[in-house]
Amino acid sequence: MIPIAKPLIGEEEKTAVMHVLDSGMLASGPRTEEFEKKFAEYVGTKHAVATTSGTTALHLGLLALGLAHGDEVILPAFSFIATANVVLFCDAVPVFCDVDYKTFNIDPQKIEKLITKKTKAIMPVHLYGQAADMDPIQELAEKHDIHVIGDACQAHGASYDGKMVGSFGDIECFSFYPTKNMTTGEGGMITTDNDEVAELMISLRNHGREKTKWGYEHGRLGYNYRMTDIGAAIGLEQLKKLPKNVQMRQNNADYYDRHLFKVETPYVIPKARHAYHQYTIKSNNRDVITQNLKKNEIGFGIYYPQPLHTYKHLKKYAHKDLKISEKLGDEVVSLPVHPGLTNEELKKIIDVVNKAYQFPDK
Ligand SMILES: Cc1ncc(COP(=O)(O)O)c(C=O)c1O
Repeated sequence: MIPIAKPLIGEEEKTAVMHVLDSGMLASGPRTEEFEKKFAEYVGTKHAVATTSGTTALHLGLLALGLAHGDEVILPAFSFIATANVVLFCDAVPVFCDVDYKTFNIDPQKIEKLITKKTKAIMPVHLYGQAADMDPIQELAEKHDIHVIGDACQAHGASYDGKMVGSFGDIECFSFYPTKNMTTGEGGMITTDNDEVAELMISLRNHGREKTKWGYEHGRLGYNYRMTDIGAAIGLEQLKKLPKNVQMRQNNADYYDRHLFKVETPYVIPKARHAYHQYTIKSNNRDVITQNLKKNEIGFGIYYPQPLHTYKHLKKYAHKDLKISEKLGDEVVSLPVHPGLTNEELKKIIDVVNKAYQFPDK
């Protein structure tokens, strides 16, 4: 079986974890601080705040921007469920925007008409590892004086206009789930240049704790969203390997681009360097491809089979102008693109996808 994703854990991660276990400091401590420092350096921001997941990173980010009851957040209708759920966690309103058919990302042309007096933030998602088109999004945010919080959960190692994803908007949030471009087991990270926002998030992730004499004073409602040093130790090693692993993903994607036909391969906007968390093709005859992949024991993923506004708890936020998101749900299929693939495996996948149309039963 060729898996759709494969976390690459080496001796370095194992040794780093053993050091933490031997140290006796398993909770959030020096390794977490070091990981935050290195991650901020990597994306080029002043601060990075580690959390327990991408979901909790997004939740903290929205809280730190002051999101509260009735505020509206504009986000793409085509994404992972967490992107919308975190808005609901804050008792706020998700306002769905359609995506661009070619890039899968929020369509900047469709954002402005969704802005109201209640709009507090735009939340672009850098889906599959390609940055959303940030220039027009930032312009709109400045014009209307609203925040930008990037969902970078799939985009470690991606860049836009020469700047790393993580350094855009007010805040960006990453996930370190095991299938991502880098992992900590489970975990998340928020990046920002804003000192006040960073301090607030550090407090919110630790039950609203304040910097006081005794350390057990709590100035606000908060959560336990603290990363462990075990996770951070893995993350530090994974971060060192990230540039090489992203390059390998790009090499695999280039190879697919050159050899796949009959399916629509990913489109990369000129300003973006795609990090290929997923290599997602489109086909109006997806079942033929997926059946052939199954028969040949090749893993694949349908990210995502339905757009967010079609889920039961989100249906009330649906509207008519979300047709591209609906269409994509029927057409996308992601192929393995991870750095663990061998040349033979890549060739086999290409052969199986290309032959799906010619010989559907092979
Ligand atoms: C686009 C997107 N947003 C948010 C998340 C949530 O991250 P996590 O699973 O770490 O909570 C993910 C992770 O799968 C994601 O892909």
